[in-house]
Amino acid sequence: MKLAPTVKLNNGYEMPILGLGTYQLKKSRCENAVRYALEAGYRLIDTAYLYRNEGLIGKVLKGLISKRKIQRSEVFLVTKVPWDIYHEPERVRYACELQLKLLGVDYIDLYLMHSPVGVKYVTDDDLMPHEGDKLCTNAVDFVDTYKSMERLVDLGLVRSLGVSNFNILQLERLWQSCRVKPAALQIECHPELIQMPLMEFCKARDIAVVAYSPLGRPKSCRALPSFYTDAHVLAIAHKYGKTPAQLALRYLIDIGTLPIPKAAQELHISENLDIFDFCLTPLELQQLGKLNRGLRIWKFVKAIDHQHYPYEHSPL
Ligand SMILES: NC(=O)c1ccc[n+]([C@@H]2O[C@H](COP(=O)([O-])OP(=O)(O)OC[C@H]3O[C@@H](n4cnc5c(N)ncnc54)[C@H](OP(=O)(O)O)[C@@H]3O)[C@@H](O)[C@H]2O)c1
Repeated sequence: MKLAPTVKLNNGYEMPILGLGTYQLKKSRCENAVRYALEAGYRLIDTAYLYRNEGLIGKVLKGLISKRKIQRSEVFLVTKVPWDIYHEPERVRYACELQLKLLGVDYIDLYLMHSPVGVKYVTDDDLMPHEGDKLCTNAVDFVDTYKSMERLVDLGLVRSLGVSNFNILQLERLWQSCRVKPAALQIECHPELIQMPLMEFCKARDIAVVAYSPLGRPKSCRALPSFYTDAHVLAIAHKYGKTPAQLALRYLIDIGTLPIPKAAQELHISENLDIFDFCLTPLELQQLGKLNRGLRIWKFVKAIDHQHYPYEHSPL
């Protein structure tokens, strides 16, 4: 079985450079995909309380561990503070313990703050409280939330901390005020959106950049990302006997990120892991770099007025 290589995080823990994303994986599709992926050699699973599948992932993991197909220590579990409804410092430990229970494990490898924007807590199940078409947010400072997350490391409930959807200024502020340095930043990253300044910032501080939506969500309601039909991409893919999706993942790894493609179909799951037998040349990297046009898929528009909204108020 071929496994993805790993990188050493800034705290010494090893993290696989490719993982399975699980957003929108539900019920048996989730169980089948996660089981198939772990059996195929995936060792990183990315989930979140928001995805409502931590219990299913825990069930699959428990089954494989009991059949001695895998050990807990071989799997790198990434999950996120429940969709920002637990940003109040006193709620963070409760949230983490809830997730540990769902996942059926006694520690989480990487615990991320899902975004810098706090969402009003109503109940554990109301993740998107709304007033009209606006998300009900709160004014909790993400630094305070993070300080509570640091205590989870002290307690041994979490090994590494990180954040997601932060911009440079927010990350800088966090970096200056934290005791446990963030080991990873999870951001949207695919050939059409490469956030170079943010990546350079992370590189200088040895923060791993995890690339979410690495395939540009090819089946969502928007048009197929351009790299699936671009002539350069098709020619390079043909040269290596790979698909445009595989090329995109290889590209993201070659520029130093750790992609977490989501796939429900077994063919896709296998294909996405089969990218470690080739490397792109500097010229090919340059050609693929031209696809970057700052195209952001996720804009969190419902929180656009929030003081910690991470993106520029660009045209929607
Ligand atoms: N931190 C955050 O705020 C955040 C936000 C978004 C996503 N994420 C994480 O990042 C993960 C990945 O992002 P995503 O789910 O938005 O999008 P994605 O991984 O870019 O795209 C997923 C789509 O690509 C298809 N696909 C997978 N492999 C393929 C291949 N080899 N060829 C062609 N199509 C392929 C999948 O189809 P099938 O499913 O039919 O196989 C699925 O429709 C998420 O699942 C989640 O874990 C995090």
